[in-house]
Amino acid sequence: MKMKWNIAFAAIALVGLGCAKDGLGSNVPTTAIQAANAVPGTLEGAPVEAPYPLGLPSAIKGRPIYQANCASCHGTYWTAQEKLDIAVAKPDTMERLKDEGRLPGNAMEKSKNGPDFYNRDWRFRRTPSDLYNLIAYGSDRLVSDGHGHFAPEKDKTTGAFLGRVHPGPDGTLGKGWKESLKEKRGGLLVAPNDPLPVWHAVYYVWSRSIAGAGPQRYKESWDVYGQNCNVCHGTIGKGDGPLSATLNPQPFNFHNRKAMAEQTDEFLFWRISEGGQFKKIPDSIQKTMSRTALGLYVHQWSAMPAWKGVLTEEQRWLAVDGVRLKSYEQD
Ligand code: HEC
Ligand code: HEC
Repeated sequence: MKMKWNIAFAAIALVGLGCAKDGLGSNVPTTAIQAANAVPGTLEGAPVEAPYPLGLPSAIKGRPIYQANCASCHGTYWTAQEKLDIAVAKPDTMERLKDEGRLPGNAMEKSKNGPDFYNRDWRFRRTPSDLYNLIAYGSDRLVSDGHGHFAPEKDKTTGAFLGRVHPGPDGTLGKGWKESLKEKRGGLLVAPNDPLPVWHAVYYVWSRSIAGAGPQRYKESWDVYGQNCNVCHGTIGKGDGPLSATLNPQPFNFHNRKAMAEQTDEFLFWRISEGGQFKKIPDSIQKTMSRTALGLYVHQWSAMPAWKGVLTEEQRWLAVDGVRLKSYEQD
């Protein structure tokens, strides 16, 4: 009963805010919230769970790690602000870029392997956790020896890699960077097997497609989120906006790093479009998600509004980025 009242309250509040009403259909079941555990048993999920970041992954800390280890193949990238500063040769920015080996025209600017990280398309069907595995262990498809050691999965007869592979520090395909990426923290090196430096590098690359895409992109994402989502999900995205106390389940906490690491942008876009009143997650979306993410983090019949009639498609993609921006430290 309490649940029904909560949902009704949310509906009233939403009407008052001029938000989407179609997300709060009339046929809310009395059993209200169900975790969408009805996931087919055959679902292909990530076979090995990445060790999730305990601290907040940081694109700022990822930048020097990327520059020292990855730029030789992937090239140098700039934020939208840096691109503007370079255009007018702003002295302090030029000085910093020089220190970081990121001045335009240096050798690394030209080297481009793999996807263009400024483009958003490369990450739509990837989760941060796929990318973690690819960089940390050299493949996005791994086998575990049961003692915390992972290796790229290979075909037993041909010995061919079964997943996608990435070159390691010495250029060997299918060799990971986990042991070799180090981060300086207050002058101290972290333990060689600390997962955070890999997460920082992954989120640095991820952030290029948002903050680095264009001068307006970052602000536009903030605005869409601020105007429509703050009220429930909170300004910093912890699910603690002013309306949150009235809702069950509570608005999602975007600082839930494990969940965010396992969700694709495609899923987030679908979720934002359809809201909390859905019968089934389309198969095409399920295929992109890990079993853990589907089983633990997807709730049907929540008060999450459907935004498809309210925000344009472009605004909903901006909302996806707005949500992502809450889950790591910005560069
Ligand atoms: C020796 C060259 C080389 C180095 C060094 C290198 N990469 Fe790559 N990387 C590649 C190539 C080549 C691809 C494209 C692989 C493909 O398309 O299958 C790639 C692809 C990627 C992708 C896209 C994966 C995907 O599936 O979309 C990411 C992310 C990435 N690299 C991150 C990194 C990071 C982070 C580092 C530094 C720790 C790094 N790379 C270092 C060569 C390199
Ligand atoms: C009326 C309150 C409310 C508003 C406004 C709202 N949300 Fe939600 N949102 C929720 C609730 C409740 C959930 C369900 C939490 C759960 O499933 O555990 C949710 C879930 C989500 C999820 C799924 C989380 C996940 O990763 O599985 C996303 C993404 C999301 N909201 C994004 C947004 C965006 C973007 C906006 C603004 C355009 C927005 N929400 C506005 C209440 C709200």
